[in-house]
Amino acid sequence: MNRDHRRPFIVIRGLEKSFGPKQVLRGVDLEVFEGETMVVLGGSGEGKSVLLRHINGLERPDRGEIVVDGQSLNELSEDELDEVRKKVSMVFQLGALFDSLTVFGNVAYPLQEHGWTSEAKVRERVHEVLAMVELSGVGDLFPAELSGGMKKRVALARALALEPKAVLYDEPTTGLDPLVTHRIDLMIRSLQSRLGFTSVVVTHDLKSAFKVGDRFALLDRGRIRFSGTAEEVRSTSDELMREFVMTAL
Ligand SMILES: Nc1ncnc2c1ncn2[C@@H]1O[C@H](COP(=O)(O)OP(=O)(O)OP(=O)(O)O)[C@@H](O)[C@H]1O
Ligand SMILES: [Mg+2]
Repeated sequence: MNRDHRRPFIVIRGLEKSFGPKQVLRGVDLEVFEGETMVVLGGSGEGKSVLLRHINGLERPDRGEIVVDGQSLNELSEDELDEVRKKVSMVFQLGALFDSLTVFGNVAYPLQEHGWTSEAKVRERVHEVLAMVELSGVGDLFPAELSGGMKKRVALARALALEPKAVLYDEPTTGLDPLVTHRIDLMIRSLQSRLGFTSVVVTHDLKSAFKVGDRFALLDRGRIRFSGTAEEVRSTSDELMREFVMTAL
C-alpha cells in the first residue's frame, strides 16, 4: 500500500513540554495514519506518558500543535476536550481502575459520564465490551479480586466502551508474565483489526511492540529520533534503535 495516500488521524508538530526547569519534550513531530498501530518506544522517564497525554488533551503543550481527526486541540475548551476524549480513549499505565467500583461499575463509568441514562443500554454495552476482552461473567468482581492481566483487560474494555476512533495504550503489558503479555498483545492486535480504530501504543518492550505495531517511533531526549516500519527498524543504522532491537531478540 502506498502510505502517502493514507490520512493522518493524529498529527503532532513541534511539541514542547517542560515541568518547571525540566524539559521533557523538545520538539516532537509524529504522524499516525488512520487505522494503523503506531508504537512509541523509549527508555524510562523519556516522556512517553507525557506525549500520550497530549494526544487526548490531558496535557497542554508549551509550544507546538496536536491535530486529531483534522481538529487542532490547542484552542479547545475543557468541555470540547471532553468530546475529544470520547473519540480518543486511553488505557492508563497502571490500569487506573476505581477500586471501590466493581468491574461492571468501572466499565459503565464512561458511559454514565457521557450521559447514557438507559440502564438497559448501559448493561448491554458493558456486557458487549467485556465479551470483547474475554471477560464475560466477572462484572460483579472488584479490582482487588482480579489478576494483573484481568485488570489490564478491564481497563481496555473501559477504553472501548464509547466506541473510540483511536485508543492510546500506556504500557499495556508492563508487569505481566510473558504468556499473559502475549495474550494481551494478540488481543490488542485483533481488536484493532476487527474494529479498525487508530492506535498508539507506548512501551519499552520491543518484543511486544513487533507483535502489535505497524510502525514504530523512538523517543529520545525529547524528540522522535527514528520512525519506520518493522523492516526499517530491523535494518536501521541508528545506534540506539539497534540497541532496542537487540533487547527483543
Ligand atoms: N505532572 C508532572 N509534573 C512534573 N513532572 C512530570 C509530570 N509528568 C511527568 N513528569 C516528568 O516528566 C518526565 C517524563 O515522564 P513520563 O512519565 O512521560 O516518562 P515515561 O517515558 O512514560 O517513563 P516510564 O517508562 O517510566 O513510564 C519524568 O521526568 C517525569 O518526572
Ligand atoms: Mg510512562
